[in-house]
Amino acid sequence: MSFVVQPAQAHSPSSLGSPSLSSESSHSGKSLRSVAPRYLRIGTAVAGGGHHVDQPYPDPFTYDKPYRKVLAKEFNSASPENQMKWEFIHPERNRYNFGPADAIVRFARENGQVVRGHTLLWHSQNPAWLNEGTFTKAELRQILKSHIFTVVGRYKGKIQQWDVANEIFNENGEYRQENIWIRELGPGIIADAFRWAHEADPRAKLFLNDYGVEWPGVKVDAYEALAKQLLAQRVPLHGFASQAHLSMRYGAPDQLAGVLQRFDNLGLETAITELDVRMDLPEGGVPTAEQLTTQATYYKTVLDACLAVDSCHSFTIWGFTDKYSWVPVFFPTEGAATVMWDDFTRKPAYYTLRDTLARALR
Ligand code: G3I
Repeated sequence: MSFVVQPAQAHSPSSLGSPSLSSESSHSGKSLRSVAPRYLRIGTAVAGGGHHVDQPYPDPFTYDKPYRKVLAKEFNSASPENQMKWEFIHPERNRYNFGPADAIVRFARENGQVVRGHTLLWHSQNPAWLNEGTFTKAELRQILKSHIFTVVGRYKGKIQQWDVANEIFNENGEYRQENIWIRELGPGIIADAFRWAHEADPRAKLFLNDYGVEWPGVKVDAYEALAKQLLAQRVPLHGFASQAHLSMRYGAPDQLAGVLQRFDNLGLETAITELDVRMDLPEGGVPTAEQLTTQATYYKTVLDACLAVDSCHSFTIWGFTDKYSWVPVFFPTEGAATVMWDDFTRKPAYYTLRDTLARALR
């Protein structure tokens, strides 16, 4: 690795995150986006909605000024974490709530960032009116179509990539039956969603997006078969994305480049869309220096995979500071999954990403 941990400094978040852990200094003060190859977008989730609503702080994107400063400086791609999801942007059948998503799109424009739209067809975070309503199949189909035309149409020309279909397969490579659209309308609705999104914004790149696809297996096979089928039907599918929510319990994703290459071979773009690396926290909640070193290697493995595959032009982490990470909310004994501490000081993983980006082929 390209950083050295000073033993005397270990065991406190502030010292573990200090720049002295990085052996490199030539990029000191530079941002991830400034050292990255021009073809590669470096993104983050933009914190708001979802788990943040129950936390004792105001909306991070709206109110945390230091957060916004780092967001603007370090990244040239932005993914609304929750603000474009159905329950957030379409809370009532006849009412859309565009304000928070509009604010992110505006911020992105002002700061030279592209936006990844997330997401249009998903089993989760759908509003109660949809989950609990009674609709005929024709009505449901019209509801989805109208949502896609309204949301994608509103941001036409302002979204680089859309996660059209999110997490549609389970771990056995079967369509998720908890997905209301697939359950009620059949998997053919996926092709329709792509067609509608393309009609609404012909320039946006349309993606399949999922976790648990970082290693080969039945889930990746299912996506490959679906991608082939959609392409054969001339459906406007443009990309396949690995979310890459990783846990140090399960080992580094050392076969990820091979997985991405399979989709590159089909002529698709590829992307990393939600990378984070969680770990079991020791008593006291502070990761050891060794854990942070391992975490940095995981981050690097994913970035290297993206850099190794020609079609990978977008590399996004799911939040950049532990202050706002979804991880401790979902996995109470795990955490420290992002590249910065709560006070935005950098962890070894940050410096490793920056070194790797700076050394990447242009
Ligand atoms: O909907 C319930 C609501 O009924 C209840 O009153 C409330 C009480 O806590 O919880 C609400 O659910 C919350 C949900 O967002 C909907 O707003 C969950 O607690 C909350 O944990 C959840 O968090 C979001 C999560 O997606 C939901 O799946 C996170 O903020 C967001 O970071 C996370 O992001 C997802 C990506 O979109 C897709 N890939 C996985 C990734 C991590 O889970």
